[in-house]
Amino acid sequence: MSDPKKLFIKTYGCQMNVYDSERMAEALGAKGYVQTDTADGADMILLNTCHIREKAAEKVYSDLGRLKPLKDGNPNLKIGVTGCVAQAEGKEIMRRSSLVDLVVGPQSYHRLPAMDDLIQTGAKALDTEFPEDDKFETLKSRSKTKRGPTAFLTVQEGCDKFCAFCVVPYTRGAEVSRPADRVVREARELVETGVREITLLGQNVNAYHGHEGGLAGLIWALNDVDGLERIRFTTSHPNDMDDALIEAHGTCPKLMPYLHLPVQSGSDRILKAMNRKHTAQGYIKLIARIREARPDILLSGDFIVGFPGETEADFEATLDLIRAVQYGQAYSFKYSTRPGTPAAEKPQLPDDVMDDRLQRLQALLTEQQRAIQQSMIGREVSVLFEKKGRTEGQMIGKSEYLHATFADAPQDVLGQIRRVRITQSGTNSLGGELIS
Ligand code: 5AD
Ligand code: SF4
Repeated sequence: MSDPKKLFIKTYGCQMNVYDSERMAEALGAKGYVQTDTADGADMILLNTCHIREKAAEKVYSDLGRLKPLKDGNPNLKIGVTGCVAQAEGKEIMRRSSLVDLVVGPQSYHRLPAMDDLIQTGAKALDTEFPEDDKFETLKSRSKTKRGPTAFLTVQEGCDKFCAFCVVPYTRGAEVSRPADRVVREARELVETGVREITLLGQNVNAYHGHEGGLAGLIWALNDVDGLERIRFTTSHPNDMDDALIEAHGTCPKLMPYLHLPVQSGSDRILKAMNRKHTAQGYIKLIARIREARPDILLSGDFIVGFPGETEADFEATLDLIRAVQYGQAYSFKYSTRPGTPAAEKPQLPDDVMDDRLQRLQALLTEQQRAIQQSMIGREVSVLFEKKGRTEGQMIGKSEYLHATFADAPQDVLGQIRRVRITQSGTNSLGGELIS
């Protein structure tokens, strides 16, 4: 038998790309490709790209340039661009880089094996359509090899919200939900390979409608899967937090007390310009209802500073909202103009203003994050152990609040949920003692 062909996938951007990369590797696995963790010596290199901000998109072109010596050294090497840059820029990628053999958008990954046949003949292949068929259903079922205790599972793709700054409705298309029975089947397959915690993914996952009762209905169905111990979901829009989902946070045993609920801004004027369709007060009231259902929930958010037209007063309103909510985790970004989005038409703020605001926003968020971590000291949490720690005898996992937590523990805690008393708080993790 000939040696297996080597596949290297570089994943940029969000967790949905991480999931897609796994599925692409499985699809090409059926054609004899084995994944490697270095581009050197690979027979195929796929860059699974992100288009959400300009920096992420431009990185692809600089990375492509760096692959030239590899292609020069191995004329049989095939290079592909997948993901949202592929969707948004299509043929333009091949024009800008002659190294690229394959361009495929996120909805067409099930066509990869056939596209591989084509590029092996020396042709170039491009597919950025939005086909009707369920790509995940057409892809092979999940690989049976043993995995770590946590996994992502995409249940919803695309978005109909059209926030004025965002490319997702254009790159990932209209909102589509996978039918619940297929999701539950895949969850069972994952559990059989050692998975204990599943994070349900979607660009607007709480708009999921593949099950009666929406995302809450799906979560309750997954709650019945034996061997699955924890359920999380990301990422959500405030307007899709329906009553059933809020209630599930209080009553569903496997749903973890952590919620990523982006708000973007705390100024009603800017929220309106962003086409978010909710107010700052509306969001704060919603958070109060969620906390009523699950008082210890840890909240996370996304923020954009420097959206066109944002004044100092608008920015201060965002700081006020952050003070009112108290986030345990957060992601914040300088506004980045995305071609084709409504906000791209508007005049931009100077970069130094955006830099200054981002710094102030992040200082406040870091302070809150630290205070919440500090408040965990002395408390008992449940940790799902995932891997060895940096020092001998140490193991690391995640608490129910998604805090990275380490403790001295025997290796057999791997894949188990154990009680830990928190004794210290570091920059990005907590330390504790195993108590059971
Ligand atoms: N500029 C800056 N940040 C953006 N995001 C989305 N589009 C942009 C943009 N054009 C951020 C939002 C979103 C997260 C995934 O990325 O905060 O919630
Ligand atoms: Fe983009 Fe999220 Fe708004 Fe959808 S809800 S347009 S994915 S920011």
